Amino acid sequence: MSREIKRIAVFTSGGDAPGMNSAIRAVVRTAAFHDLHVYGIHRGYEGMIDCDIRRLEKRNVGNILQRGGTVLKTARSDRFRTPEGRKSAYESLLAHDIDACIAIGGDGTFTGASIFSQEYNIPFIGIPGTIDNDIYGTDYTIGFDTAVNTAMEAVDKIRDTAESHNRLFFVEVMGRHAGFIALNVGISGGAEMVLLPETDTPLESIIERLRKSAKRKKMFSLVLVAEGNKSGRAREIAAQVKEELDMFDIRTTVVGHLQRGGSPSGFDRVLSSRLGFHAVEGLMNGKENVAVGIVNDKIKYTAFEDAINKSKTLNKDLVRMAEILGR
Ligand code: F6P
Repeated sequence: MSREIKRIAVFTSGGDAPGMNSAIRAVVRTAAFHDLHVYGIHRGYEGMIDCDIRRLEKRNVGNILQRGGTVLKTARSDRFRTPEGRKSAYESLLAHDIDACIAIGGDGTFTGASIFSQEYNIPFIGIPGTIDNDIYGTDYTIGFDTAVNTAMEAVDKIRDTAESHNRLFFVEVMGRHAGFIALNVGISGGAEMVLLPETDTPLESIIERLRKSAKRKKMFSLVLVAEGNKSGRAREIAAQVKEELDMFDIRTTVVGHLQRGGSPSGFDRVLSSRLGFHAVEGLMNGKENVAVGIVNDKIKYTAFEDAINKSKTLNKDLVRMAEILGR
């Protein structure tokens, strides 16, 4: 018989993502509807250890739906990796009579939640919040759509100046070890080439493709570079290409942390509201130590072990299409 859930703690952890505030809001409003109390833990696991925990009521989450970032702040925590740190965190939760936790973050966040819930009898539900979209058990993670739109808008701007100056641009996007952002920005931004961690594109073939482009007198191009791709970071690749193909006027742009901020897209607001809503109702229905996700537009709960250890693969048809459309 699962325990009665009356007091839920919610926190954000790892890299922030647009839509986290919308998820926090949905958790608080859903809990209030069911007469449950919510407590906000500030600064992720660091704040759990420091007992930086405050009540969160509906009035505290007014007018945050549209804001990027996280009102609960976030942090990465080395202390939580230690048994002593986790013990302090447990004592903090006990001090507030917390029955369950909702962790909004990526695989590192879920790993911490999984270890903690095995040591201490407090159920967790994870909400996949990371722009990288690299979490198994959900088609989309919170922040991914907004990050793709932000980077796509940057690529559109770069395309203007690339064409004006007949330049070759290498544009680097985030995504850590995954290519979800790069693939979608490459397609939506019309890149001639997309360099992904999941597919090996050796430098020689990049140079070959560009040499052919030069023969056709097509000198302005956009190469989308996922930061985790095997050929290196955009600046490194650009320098190597420059050595081989001096006919190109080359520039590099790293979109960087612009992809982490900004007002969440409508898609991300709906996604994060659904995941926050079903995180609370999942806890009430006895779900624990799972991540809530959406697969084929249906709510799905995935055991932390799978969410953490199984990898989500890129859509091979999309990869093939991007290759062909870019030529
Ligand atoms: O995981 C989200 C992410 O933005 C990655 O795409 C990126 O590589 C990393 O975080 C950057 O980390 P930081 O914000 O600590 O520089």
